[in-house]
Amino acid sequence: MKSSATVQHGKRTKVIDLLKETETGTTVTVKGWVRTFRNNQFIALNDGSTIENIQAVVDFENFDDNLLKRITTGACISVVGELVASKGKGQAVEVVVEDIEILGDADPEKYLLQPKRHTLEFLRDIAHLRVRTNTFSAIYRVRHAMIFAIHKFFTDKGFYNVHTPIITGSDAEGAGEMFKVTTLDLTHPPKTGEGDVDFKEDFFGKETNLTVSGQLEVETACLALSEVYTFGPTFRAENSNTSRHLAEFWMIEPEMAFYDINDTMDLAEEFLEYLVKYALDHCEADLVFLDKRASDEEKTRPQHERSELGLLERLRFVLEHDFERITYTEAIDILRNSKPNKKKKFQYLVEDWGADLQSEHERYLVEKHFKKPVILYNYPKQIKAFYMRQNEDDKTVAAMDVLFPGIGEIIGGSQREERHDKLKDRIDELGIPEKDLWWYLELRKFGSAPHSGFGLGFERMIQFVTGMGNIRDVIPFPRTPGNAEF
Ligand code: 4AD
Ligand code: MG
Repeated sequence: MKSSATVQHGKRTKVIDLLKETETGTTVTVKGWVRTFRNNQFIALNDGSTIENIQAVVDFENFDDNLLKRITTGACISVVGELVASKGKGQAVEVVVEDIEILGDADPEKYLLQPKRHTLEFLRDIAHLRVRTNTFSAIYRVRHAMIFAIHKFFTDKGFYNVHTPIITGSDAEGAGEMFKVTTLDLTHPPKTGEGDVDFKEDFFGKETNLTVSGQLEVETACLALSEVYTFGPTFRAENSNTSRHLAEFWMIEPEMAFYDINDTMDLAEEFLEYLVKYALDHCEADLVFLDKRASDEEKTRPQHERSELGLLERLRFVLEHDFERITYTEAIDILRNSKPNKKKKFQYLVEDWGADLQSEHERYLVEKHFKKPVILYNYPKQIKAFYMRQNEDDKTVAAMDVLFPGIGEIIGGSQREERHDKLKDRIDELGIPEKDLWWYLELRKFGSAPHSGFGLGFERMIQFVTGMGNIRDVIPFPRTPGNAEF
């Protein structure tokens, strides 16, 4: 037996590279976290470079008992040994351990993440550790791949990435309730003569909020660089406790000069298909694992709630089928005459033209009626934002939403109102303070151009690609009403 004093822990090789190695007989150093230690002999070691573990084989007679006892689930270790062809099933190579160094113990009495099935709810409570599970490490890796793919897609098309502000001085977007940003002493705020809080005394000399969308600001860049996108965190202070809503989420917002609503629908469809294909091409091992996880979870659901396709089938299905495009008006007709509407199965019955669609309606269209992604466009102007381009009919605006199976709305976008007077009239009609939007109106006064854009909710996209049912499980540290731990 070599004493640990003589065995050098060399340069670390990643597990993903070791598993691809065809040349055996070399001495390697591998570092990572113990997943399991079976029979005082087989260590399954994971370093996050891949969902696969490397097996490190220990001859326990050569090691001190006190050291072996410290090789527990969750412990971080460094191993030196010879890479050999594996005798066992399940892996091509393994490491015959010559020396082990414990980098960080994980007391099995106290370490919460044991090698057994934990519920997703329990794992949310230990979000600082859950990334050490197969499920969450796979999700983190897929998230990374999607971030990269988003930048690649737009870069390859000649779009420029623009950082829009996170603290905003305008609350005009109207996309949702906002979080205030202030340094005022909340117990003794300065007051105006009228007794209101005096925001002139605040850090920025005015009221400020966290942004709900980078759109209004990114439009300024669009009207100079033609094709741009922003990809940043956005914040909505709505009290929505659903499996699709976060108070802090990431949004990708492309904005294109000279695009009309049809060009925008084309881009949205191409973009979503590109991302799905990128995931299938680059995240295979993780998606195979997540596909299995999702199908195990499906089995616990009642038959009628189970989805017809598995995760991988659903991803391929999206690539193989064009999205259905219908107007809001056509959608209302379909919904009004649908079975669940006639049998009063919808929680919100569809009666009049002009009502906002609920997620049960969106999902009916996608999952039951068309059985594929749907793009709805030309919505009633009353239910959409002030900046959307007014159509000739005086009733609708050139808005579009992309609806996805299992998710509902994944993208919201529109052609923008580029005509100064029409926009100003709409702003006045809605009673939006013009003082917040003077610069936005100026864009229509000087060199205005037809332009369009949309927003993709990044976490909803990750939900679709990973098959996770709850949006809280596709972002490292979810922020939802009553929950900002970590
Ligand atoms: O439809 P929304 O509100 O659109 C906008 O904010 C526009 N300014 C976008 C644009 O045209 N540039 O949001 C866009 C997308 C939604 O389709 C949804 O996928 C996601 O953002 N989203 C949320 N995701 C998670 N949690 C929430 N609370 C979300 N609200 C919207
Ligand atoms: Mg929307």
